Amino acid sequence: MTQSSALAIVLAAGKGTRMKSDLPKVLHRLAGAPMLAHVLRAATAAGITRASLVVGPGMDPVGEVGLALDSNVEVFVQPDQLGTADAVKAASPTFETAKGPVIVLYGDTPLLRAETLKAVLGELEAGADLVVIGFEAQDPTGYGRLLFDSHGRLSGIREEKDASAAERALTLCNSGIMAFRSAATLSGLLARIGNDNAKAEYYLTDAVALARGDDLAARVVLSNAEEVLGVNSRAELATAESLMQRRLRTAAMDNGATLVSPDTVFFSYDTAIGRDVTIEPNVVIGPGVAIEDGATIRAFCHIEQASIGPGASIGPFARLRPGAALAKNAHVGNFVEIKNSQVHEGAKVNHLTYIGDASVGAKANIGAGTITCNYDGFAKHRTEIGAGAFIGSNSSLVAPVKIGDGAYVGSGSVITKDVPADALAVSRVPQDERAGWAAKVRARRNRDKAK
Ligand code: UD1
Ligand code: CA
Repeated sequence: MTQSSALAIVLAAGKGTRMKSDLPKVLHRLAGAPMLAHVLRAATAAGITRASLVVGPGMDPVGEVGLALDSNVEVFVQPDQLGTADAVKAASPTFETAKGPVIVLYGDTPLLRAETLKAVLGELEAGADLVVIGFEAQDPTGYGRLLFDSHGRLSGIREEKDASAAERALTLCNSGIMAFRSAATLSGLLARIGNDNAKAEYYLTDAVALARGDDLAARVVLSNAEEVLGVNSRAELATAESLMQRRLRTAAMDNGATLVSPDTVFFSYDTAIGRDVTIEPNVVIGPGVAIEDGATIRAFCHIEQASIGPGASIGPFARLRPGAALAKNAHVGNFVEIKNSQVHEGAKVNHLTYIGDASVGAKANIGAGTITCNYDGFAKHRTEIGAGAFIGSNSSLVAPVKIGDGAYVGSGSVITKDVPADALAVSRVPQDERAGWAAKVRARRNRDKAK
Protein backbone atom coordinates (compact mmCIF):
# COMPACT_ATOMS: atom_id res chain seq x y z
CA MET A 1 0.00 0.00 0.00
CA THR A 2 1.58 3.28 -1.03
CA GLN A 3 0.05 6.47 0.24
CA SER A 4 2.69 8.89 -0.92
CA SER A 5 0.01 11.20 -2.27
CA ALA A 6 -1.80 11.69 1.05
CA LEU A 7 -1.79 15.09 2.72
CA ALA A 8 -1.99 15.71 6.47
CA ILE A 9 -3.44 18.95 7.78
CA VAL A 10 -2.11 19.45 11.29
CA LEU A 11 -4.12 21.86 13.40
CA ALA A 12 -2.05 23.79 15.89
CA ALA A 13 -3.60 27.25 16.03
CA GLY A 14 -4.99 26.74 19.53
CA LYS A 15 -3.40 29.04 22.09
CA GLY A 16 -3.05 26.34 24.70
CA THR A 17 -3.80 28.80 27.51
CA ARG A 18 -4.16 26.01 30.05
CA MET A 19 -0.46 25.21 29.70
CA LYS A 20 0.27 28.64 31.27
CA SER A 21 3.36 28.89 29.14
CA ASP A 22 5.25 31.30 26.92
CA LEU A 23 6.02 28.35 24.66
CA PRO A 24 3.29 27.41 22.15
CA LYS A 25 1.59 24.23 23.31
CA VAL A 26 2.64 21.92 20.48
CA LEU A 27 6.31 22.75 21.14
CA HIS A 28 6.21 21.31 24.63
CA ARG A 29 8.33 18.19 24.70
CA LEU A 30 7.56 14.55 25.18
CA ALA A 31 10.38 11.98 25.27
CA GLY A 32 12.78 14.64 24.03
CA ALA A 33 10.80 15.93 21.04
CA PRO A 34 8.07 18.55 20.61
CA MET A 35 4.54 17.13 20.52
CA LEU A 36 4.30 18.37 16.96
CA ALA A 37 7.29 16.22 15.98
CA HIS A 38 5.55 13.08 17.27
CA VAL A 39 2.48 13.85 15.19
CA LEU A 40 4.54 14.50 12.05
CA ARG A 41 6.59 11.35 12.64
CA ALA A 42 3.45 9.23 12.95
CA ALA A 43 2.16 10.70 9.69
CA THR A 44 5.45 10.05 7.92
CA ALA A 45 5.58 6.50 9.26
CA ALA A 46 2.09 5.96 7.85
CA GLY A 47 3.38 6.97 4.43
CA ILE A 48 1.92 10.48 4.52
CA THR A 49 4.65 12.61 3.05
CA ARG A 50 3.07 16.06 2.84
CA ALA A 51 1.77 18.14 5.71
CA SER A 52 0.07 21.49 6.01
CA LEU A 53 0.56 22.99 9.43
CA VAL A 54 -2.05 25.47 10.60
CA VAL A 55 -0.82 27.94 13.22
CA GLY A 56 -2.26 31.05 14.84
CA PRO A 57 -1.02 34.59 14.33
CA GLY A 58 2.28 35.22 16.09
CA MET A 59 3.04 31.50 16.30
CA ASP A 60 6.06 31.72 14.00
CA PRO A 61 8.18 29.45 16.21
CA VAL A 62 5.73 26.61 15.59
CA GLY A 63 6.02 27.11 11.85
CA GLU A 64 9.79 27.24 12.08
CA VAL A 65 9.98 24.06 14.12
CA GLY A 66 7.58 22.38 11.69
CA LEU A 67 9.71 23.34 8.70
CA ALA A 68 12.89 22.25 10.45
CA LEU A 69 11.37 18.89 11.32
CA ASP A 70 10.17 18.04 7.87
CA SER A 71 10.90 19.67 4.55
CA ASN A 72 7.50 18.64 3.22
CA VAL A 73 5.68 20.88 5.67
CA GLU A 74 3.91 24.02 4.51
CA VAL A 75 2.79 26.52 7.12
CA PHE A 76 -0.54 28.38 7.04
CA VAL A 77 -1.79 31.02 9.42
CA GLN A 78 -5.39 30.96 10.59
CA PRO A 79 -6.08 34.65 11.35
CA ASP A 80 -8.94 34.10 13.84
CA GLN A 81 -9.82 30.94 15.68
CA LEU A 82 -13.27 30.37 14.35
CA GLY A 83 -13.29 26.62 14.79
CA THR A 84 -11.79 23.45 13.40
CA ALA A 85 -13.45 23.77 9.98
CA ASP A 86 -12.13 27.31 9.67
CA ALA A 87 -8.68 26.05 10.65
CA VAL A 88 -8.77 23.44 7.89
CA LYS A 89 -9.88 26.13 5.45
CA ALA A 90 -6.73 28.08 6.25
CA ALA A 91 -4.80 25.29 4.52
CA SER A 92 -7.05 25.32 1.44
CA PRO A 93 -4.34 26.66 -0.92
CA THR A 94 -2.81 23.17 -0.80
CA PHE A 95 -6.03 21.50 -1.88
CA GLU A 96 -5.44 22.27 -5.55
CA THR A 97 -2.26 20.26 -5.68
CA ALA A 98 -3.31 17.53 -3.23
CA LYS A 99 -3.86 14.39 -5.26
CA GLY A 100 -4.73 11.74 -2.71
CA PRO A 101 -6.63 11.58 0.57
CA VAL A 102 -6.50 14.36 3.15
CA ILE A 103 -6.28 13.61 6.85
CA VAL A 104 -6.83 16.19 9.58
CA LEU A 105 -4.64 15.73 12.66
CA TYR A 106 -4.26 17.72 15.85
CA GLY A 107 -0.82 18.96 16.88
CA ASP A 108 -1.54 18.14 20.51
CA THR A 109 -2.24 14.39 20.24
CA PRO A 110 1.33 13.10 20.37
CA LEU A 111 0.54 9.47 21.13
CA LEU A 112 -1.18 8.75 17.85
CA ARG A 113 0.34 5.66 16.17
CA ALA A 114 1.15 5.21 12.51
CA GLU A 115 -0.76 1.88 12.51
CA THR A 116 -4.00 3.69 13.30
CA LEU A 117 -3.40 6.22 10.54
CA LYS A 118 -2.73 3.35 8.16
CA ALA A 119 -6.05 1.80 9.17
CA VAL A 120 -7.76 5.10 8.34
CA LEU A 121 -6.09 5.26 4.94
CA GLY A 122 -7.03 1.61 4.41
CA GLU A 123 -10.73 2.42 5.00
CA LEU A 124 -10.53 5.17 2.38
CA GLU A 125 -8.93 2.78 -0.07
CA ALA A 126 -11.66 0.28 0.68
CA GLY A 127 -14.28 2.78 -0.44
CA ALA A 128 -15.04 5.17 2.43
CA ASP A 129 -15.37 8.85 1.57
CA LEU A 130 -14.88 10.07 5.11
CA VAL A 131 -13.32 8.32 8.11
CA VAL A 132 -13.38 9.41 11.74
CA ILE A 133 -11.17 7.95 14.45
CA GLY A 134 -13.46 7.20 17.36
CA PHE A 135 -12.75 5.99 20.87
CA GLU A 136 -14.71 4.76 23.85
CA ALA A 137 -14.35 7.47 26.52
CA GLN A 138 -14.49 6.65 30.22
CA ASP A 139 -15.62 10.22 30.73
CA PRO A 140 -16.99 11.66 27.48
CA THR A 141 -17.37 15.19 28.85
CA GLY A 142 -16.22 17.77 26.33
CA TYR A 143 -15.96 15.44 23.35
CA GLY A 144 -18.11 15.25 20.26
CA ARG A 145 -20.34 12.13 20.33
CA LEU A 146 -20.56 9.82 17.34
CA LEU A 147 -24.13 9.33 16.08
CA PHE A 148 -25.31 6.32 14.10
CA ASP A 149 -28.43 5.66 12.05
CA SER A 150 -30.74 2.69 12.46
CA HIS A 151 -28.47 0.65 10.18
CA GLY A 152 -25.50 1.32 12.43
CA ARG A 153 -23.90 3.69 9.96
CA LEU A 154 -22.12 6.82 11.15
CA SER A 155 -24.54 9.67 10.56
CA GLY A 156 -23.12 12.65 12.41
CA ILE A 157 -21.12 14.04 15.30
CA ARG A 158 -22.73 16.09 18.03
CA GLU A 159 -20.60 18.49 20.02
CA GLU A 160 -21.11 18.40 23.78
CA LYS A 161 -22.60 21.88 23.97
CA ASP A 162 -25.17 21.08 21.29
CA ALA A 163 -26.05 17.62 22.53
CA SER A 164 -29.34 16.46 24.04
CA ALA A 165 -29.30 14.63 27.36
CA ALA A 166 -29.65 11.31 25.52
CA GLU A 167 -26.76 12.17 23.20
CA ARG A 168 -24.60 13.19 26.15
CA ALA A 169 -25.07 9.73 27.59
CA LEU A 170 -23.21 8.29 24.58
CA THR A 171 -19.60 7.35 25.22
CA LEU A 172 -18.27 6.62 21.74
CA CYS A 173 -16.48 9.89 20.97
CA ASN A 174 -14.73 11.75 18.20
CA SER A 175 -10.96 11.81 18.58
CA GLY A 176 -10.89 14.79 16.25
CA ILE A 177 -8.93 12.96 13.59
CA MET A 178 -10.87 12.84 10.38
CA ALA A 179 -9.88 11.80 6.87
CA PHE A 180 -11.38 12.49 3.45
CA ARG A 181 -11.18 10.55 0.21
CA SER A 182 -9.82 13.59 -1.60
CA ALA A 183 -9.26 17.32 -1.26
CA ALA A 184 -12.28 17.80 -3.52
CA THR A 185 -14.47 15.81 -1.13
CA LEU A 186 -13.18 17.88 1.78
CA SER A 187 -13.58 21.27 0.14
CA GLY A 188 -17.05 20.40 -1.12
CA LEU A 189 -18.10 19.70 2.47
CA LEU A 190 -16.17 22.59 4.04
CA ALA A 191 -17.93 25.12 1.82
CA ARG A 192 -21.25 24.19 3.40
CA ILE A 193 -20.24 24.17 7.05
CA GLY A 194 -21.87 27.04 8.95
CA ASN A 195 -21.54 28.28 12.51
CA ASP A 196 -25.13 28.02 13.68
CA ASN A 197 -24.33 26.18 16.92
CA ALA A 198 -23.84 26.73 20.62
CA LYS A 199 -20.28 28.02 20.23
CA ALA A 200 -20.91 29.92 16.99
CA GLU A 201 -17.87 28.08 15.60
CA TYR A 202 -17.29 26.36 12.29
CA TYR A 203 -17.20 22.71 13.32
CA LEU A 204 -15.29 20.31 11.11
CA THR A 205 -17.43 17.61 12.69
CA ASP A 206 -20.42 18.88 10.71
CA ALA A 207 -18.75 17.36 7.66
CA VAL A 208 -20.08 13.94 8.70
CA ALA A 209 -23.80 14.78 8.49
CA LEU A 210 -23.21 16.74 5.28
CA ALA A 211 -21.39 13.76 3.77
CA ARG A 212 -24.27 11.46 4.69
CA GLY A 213 -26.68 13.95 3.10
CA ASP A 214 -24.63 13.60 -0.08
CA ASP A 215 -24.91 9.80 0.19
CA LEU A 216 -21.22 9.48 0.83
CA ALA A 217 -19.88 6.63 2.94
CA ALA A 218 -18.73 7.74 6.41
CA ARG A 219 -16.95 5.21 8.61
CA VAL A 220 -15.32 4.94 12.00
CA VAL A 221 -11.92 3.50 12.86
CA LEU A 222 -11.62 2.76 16.56
CA SER A 223 -8.55 3.51 18.62
CA ASN A 224 -7.91 3.27 22.32
CA ALA A 225 -8.43 6.41 24.36
CA GLU A 226 -4.75 6.59 25.24
CA GLU A 227 -3.64 7.04 21.70
CA VAL A 228 -5.83 10.05 21.01
CA LEU A 229 -5.19 11.73 24.35
CA GLY A 230 -5.12 15.48 23.77
CA VAL A 231 -2.65 17.46 25.85
CA ASN A 232 -4.13 20.66 27.23
CA SER A 233 -2.38 21.07 30.57
CA ARG A 234 0.91 20.26 32.24
CA ALA A 235 -0.78 17.39 34.05
CA GLU A 236 -1.92 15.91 30.74
CA LEU A 237 1.58 16.45 29.37
CA ALA A 238 2.91 14.37 32.26
CA THR A 239 0.30 11.68 31.61
CA ALA A 240 1.26 11.58 27.94
CA GLU A 241 4.94 11.41 28.86
CA SER A 242 4.41 8.41 31.10
CA LEU A 243 2.37 6.63 28.43
CA MET A 244 5.07 7.37 25.86
CA GLN A 245 7.79 6.13 28.22
CA ARG A 246 5.87 2.92 28.78
CA ARG A 247 5.83 2.36 25.02
CA LEU A 248 9.53 3.08 24.66
CA ARG A 249 10.42 0.74 27.54
CA THR A 250 8.32 -2.04 26.11
CA ALA A 251 9.92 -1.56 22.69
CA ALA A 252 13.42 -1.68 24.20
CA MET A 253 12.63 -4.93 26.00
CA ASP A 254 10.91 -6.41 22.94
CA ASN A 255 14.13 -5.73 21.04
CA GLY A 256 16.24 -7.64 23.53
CA ALA A 257 17.35 -5.15 26.18
CA THR A 258 17.14 -5.93 29.91
CA LEU A 259 15.66 -3.16 32.00
CA VAL A 260 16.09 -4.09 35.62
CA SER A 261 13.51 -1.54 36.75
CA PRO A 262 11.72 -0.30 33.61
CA ASP A 263 9.68 2.38 35.34
CA THR A 264 12.83 4.21 36.38
CA VAL A 265 14.47 4.38 32.96
CA PHE A 266 13.62 7.33 30.71
CA PHE A 267 14.16 7.15 26.97
CA SER A 268 13.94 9.63 24.14
CA TYR A 269 11.86 9.14 21.05
CA ASP A 270 14.98 8.27 19.03
CA THR A 271 16.98 6.17 21.48
CA ALA A 272 18.59 3.28 19.60
CA ILE A 273 19.29 0.20 21.70
CA GLY A 274 20.92 -3.03 20.59
CA ARG A 275 20.46 -6.60 21.79
CA ASP A 276 21.60 -7.77 25.19
CA VAL A 277 22.00 -4.27 26.49
CA THR A 278 21.44 -4.06 30.23
CA ILE A 279 20.13 -0.88 31.77
CA GLU A 280 20.12 -0.68 35.55
CA PRO A 281 17.68 1.51 37.51
CA ASN A 282 17.43 5.30 37.39
CA VAL A 283 18.88 6.14 34.02
CA VAL A 284 17.92 9.18 31.93
CA ILE A 285 18.57 9.08 28.20
CA GLY A 286 18.16 12.30 26.23
CA PRO A 287 17.86 12.62 22.47
CA GLY A 288 20.47 11.32 20.04
CA VAL A 289 21.72 8.30 21.95
CA ALA A 290 22.76 4.96 20.45
CA ILE A 291 23.66 2.03 22.69
CA GLU A 292 25.13 -0.96 20.91
CA ASP A 293 24.85 -4.69 21.57
CA GLY A 294 25.97 -5.99 24.91
CA ALA A 295 26.60 -2.61 26.50
CA THR A 296 25.81 -2.06 30.18
CA ILE A 297 24.42 1.14 31.61
CA ARG A 298 24.72 0.97 35.35
CA ALA A 299 22.50 2.82 37.79
CA PHE A 300 22.06 6.60 37.86
CA CYS A 301 23.54 7.57 34.50
CA HIS A 302 22.58 10.60 32.42
CA ILE A 303 23.28 10.36 28.69
CA GLU A 304 22.53 12.69 25.78
CA GLN A 305 23.73 12.88 22.15
CA ALA A 306 26.25 10.16 22.78
CA SER A 307 27.11 6.73 21.47
CA ILE A 308 28.08 3.68 23.45
CA GLY A 309 29.87 0.92 21.58
CA PRO A 310 29.34 -2.82 21.82
CA GLY A 311 30.23 -4.31 25.17
CA ALA A 312 31.06 -0.92 26.68
CA SER A 313 29.97 -0.11 30.19
CA ILE A 314 29.21 3.14 31.94
CA GLY A 315 28.35 4.13 35.48
CA PRO A 316 27.10 3.93 38.07
CA PHE A 317 26.68 7.73 38.18
CA ALA A 318 28.26 8.58 34.84
CA ARG A 319 27.34 11.49 32.64
CA LEU A 320 27.79 11.40 28.87
CA ARG A 321 27.24 14.78 27.27
CA PRO A 322 26.88 15.66 23.58
CA GLY A 323 29.59 14.21 21.38
CA ALA A 324 30.75 11.51 23.77
CA ALA A 325 31.59 8.45 21.69
CA LEU A 326 32.61 5.27 23.48
CA ALA A 327 34.09 2.52 21.34
CA LYS A 328 33.84 -1.22 21.86
CA ASN A 329 34.48 -2.42 25.41
CA ALA A 330 35.32 1.04 26.74
CA HIS A 331 34.76 1.50 30.47
CA VAL A 332 33.52 4.68 32.03
CA GLY A 333 33.02 4.50 35.75
CA ASN A 334 31.46 6.41 38.61
CA PHE A 335 31.37 10.20 38.72
CA VAL A 336 32.92 10.56 35.29
CA GLU A 337 31.76 13.21 32.83
CA ILE A 338 32.59 12.92 29.14
CA LYS A 339 31.84 15.59 26.54
CA ASN A 340 32.72 15.84 22.85
CA SER A 341 35.36 13.13 23.15
CA GLN A 342 36.23 9.77 21.73
CA VAL A 343 37.08 6.98 24.11
CA HIS A 344 38.63 4.29 21.97
CA GLU A 345 38.41 0.53 22.21
CA GLY A 346 39.03 -0.94 25.62
CA ALA A 347 40.08 2.35 27.21
CA LYS A 348 39.26 2.86 30.89
CA VAL A 349 38.12 6.05 32.56
CA ASN A 350 36.90 4.63 35.78
CA HIS A 351 36.69 7.20 38.53
CA LEU A 352 35.93 10.87 39.21
CA THR A 353 37.18 12.29 35.93
CA TYR A 354 36.33 14.98 33.40
CA ILE A 355 37.17 14.28 29.76
CA GLY A 356 36.18 17.12 27.44
CA ASP A 357 37.22 17.83 23.83
CA ALA A 358 39.61 14.90 23.94
CA SER A 359 40.44 11.56 22.49
CA VAL A 360 41.49 8.67 24.67
CA GLY A 361 43.47 6.03 22.77
CA ALA A 362 42.71 2.34 22.71
CA LYS A 363 43.46 0.58 26.00
CA ALA A 364 44.62 3.80 27.65
CA ASN A 365 44.04 4.01 31.40
CA ILE A 366 42.92 7.26 32.93
CA GLY A 367 43.52 7.44 36.66
CA ALA A 368 41.05 8.67 39.24
CA GLY A 369 40.49 12.40 39.33
CA THR A 370 42.06 13.21 35.97
CA ILE A 371 40.87 16.46 34.42
CA THR A 372 41.29 17.59 30.84
CA CYS A 373 41.51 21.35 31.25
CA ASN A 374 39.84 22.15 27.96
CA TYR A 375 38.68 25.71 28.52
CA ASP A 376 40.86 28.74 29.08
CA GLY A 377 37.99 31.12 29.67
CA PHE A 378 37.79 32.06 26.00
CA ALA A 379 38.14 28.98 23.83
CA LYS A 380 38.04 25.20 24.02
CA HIS A 381 41.15 23.15 23.25
CA ARG A 382 41.79 19.49 22.56
CA THR A 383 43.63 16.87 24.52
CA GLU A 384 44.91 13.81 22.71
CA ILE A 385 45.86 10.77 24.73
CA GLY A 386 47.61 8.02 22.80
CA ALA A 387 46.88 4.32 22.71
CA GLY A 388 47.99 2.45 25.80
CA ALA A 389 48.90 5.65 27.67
CA PHE A 390 48.66 5.69 31.46
CA ILE A 391 47.55 8.86 33.19
CA GLY A 392 48.29 8.84 36.91
CA SER A 393 45.55 9.85 39.32
CA ASN A 394 44.76 13.46 40.00
CA SER A 395 46.49 14.79 36.91
CA SER A 396 45.52 17.91 35.01
CA LEU A 397 46.08 17.83 31.27
CA VAL A 398 46.11 21.46 30.15
CA ALA A 399 44.88 21.61 26.55
CA PRO A 400 45.96 21.87 23.85
CA VAL A 401 48.21 18.96 24.72
CA LYS A 402 49.16 15.52 23.40
CA ILE A 403 50.17 12.49 25.39
CA GLY A 404 51.96 10.03 23.09
CA ASP A 405 51.16 6.34 22.71
CA GLY A 406 52.30 4.29 25.65
CA ALA A 407 53.42 7.33 27.66
CA TYR A 408 53.13 7.59 31.47
CA VAL A 409 52.04 10.63 33.38
CA GLY A 410 52.94 10.59 37.05
CA SER A 411 50.14 11.12 39.58
CA GLY A 412 49.33 14.66 40.49
CA SER A 413 51.02 16.13 37.43
CA VAL A 414 49.95 19.28 35.69
CA ILE A 415 50.84 18.60 32.07
CA THR A 416 51.22 21.68 29.90
CA LYS A 417 53.61 20.35 27.22
CA ASP A 418 53.25 17.42 24.84
CA VAL A 419 54.59 14.12 26.17
CA PRO A 420 56.41 11.92 23.60
CA ALA A 421 55.38 8.30 23.07
CA ASP A 422 56.62 5.89 25.74
CA ALA A 423 58.06 8.71 27.89
CA LEU A 424 57.37 9.41 31.56
CA ALA A 425 56.25 12.91 32.44
CA VAL A 426 56.04 14.03 36.04
CA SER A 427 55.45 17.60 37.07
CA ARG A 428 55.20 17.85 40.78
CA VAL A 429 57.31 19.07 43.68
CA PRO A 430 59.84 16.34 44.51
CA GLN A 431 59.22 14.55 47.77
CA ASP A 432 61.20 15.84 50.76
CA GLU A 433 61.86 13.56 53.78
CA ARG A 434 63.19 14.20 57.28
CA ALA A 435 64.04 11.02 59.13
CA GLY A 436 62.57 10.78 62.65
CA TRP A 437 60.84 14.16 62.43
CA ALA A 438 57.38 12.89 63.35
CA ALA A 439 58.55 10.86 66.34
CA LYS A 440 60.56 13.79 67.69
CA VAL A 441 57.73 16.28 67.40
CA ARG A 442 55.22 13.84 68.88
CA ALA A 443 57.43 13.23 71.92
CA ARG A 444 57.87 16.97 72.55
CA ARG A 445 54.17 17.71 72.22
CA ASN A 446 53.28 14.88 74.60
CA ARG A 447 55.78 16.20 77.15
CA ASP A 448 54.30 19.72 76.91
CA LYS A 449 50.78 18.29 77.39
CA ALA A 450 51.80 16.37 80.52
CA LYS A 451 53.14 19.52 82.26
C1 UD1 B 1 -12.79 18.85 18.92
C2 UD1 B 1 -13.92 18.21 18.14
C3 UD1 B 1 -14.62 17.19 19.04
C4 UD1 B 1 -13.62 16.15 19.50
C5 UD1 B 1 -12.45 16.83 20.19
C6 UD1 B 1 -11.36 15.82 20.48
C7 UD1 B 1 -14.79 19.92 16.65
C8 UD1 B 1 -15.85 20.93 16.41
N1 UD1 B 1 -14.86 19.24 17.78
O1 UD1 B 1 -13.37 19.57 20.00
O2 UD1 B 1 -15.65 16.54 18.34
O3 UD1 B 1 -14.23 15.23 20.37
O4 UD1 B 1 -11.89 17.85 19.35
O5 UD1 B 1 -10.35 16.40 21.24
O6 UD1 B 1 -13.93 19.74 15.80
N2 UD1 B 1 -7.95 24.52 16.36
C9 UD1 B 1 -7.43 25.43 15.46
N3 UD1 B 1 -8.18 26.51 15.12
C10 UD1 B 1 -9.42 26.72 15.61
C11 UD1 B 1 -9.93 25.79 16.54
C12 UD1 B 1 -9.18 24.69 16.87
O7 UD1 B 1 -6.31 25.27 14.98
O8 UD1 B 1 -10.04 27.71 15.23
C13 UD1 B 1 -7.13 23.36 16.73
C14 UD1 B 1 -6.70 23.38 18.17
O9 UD1 B 1 -5.40 23.92 18.28
C15 UD1 B 1 -6.70 21.90 18.51
C16 UD1 B 1 -7.76 21.30 17.62
O10 UD1 B 1 -7.94 22.22 16.57
O11 UD1 B 1 -5.47 21.29 18.19
C17 UD1 B 1 -9.06 21.04 18.34
O12 UD1 B 1 -9.63 22.22 18.77
P1 UD1 B 1 -10.45 22.35 20.11
O13 UD1 B 1 -10.98 23.72 20.20
O14 UD1 B 1 -9.64 21.84 21.24
O15 UD1 B 1 -11.66 21.35 19.82
P2 UD1 B 1 -12.59 20.66 20.88
O16 UD1 B 1 -13.61 21.62 21.33
O17 UD1 B 1 -11.81 19.96 21.90
CA1 CA C 1 -9.62 20.02 22.68
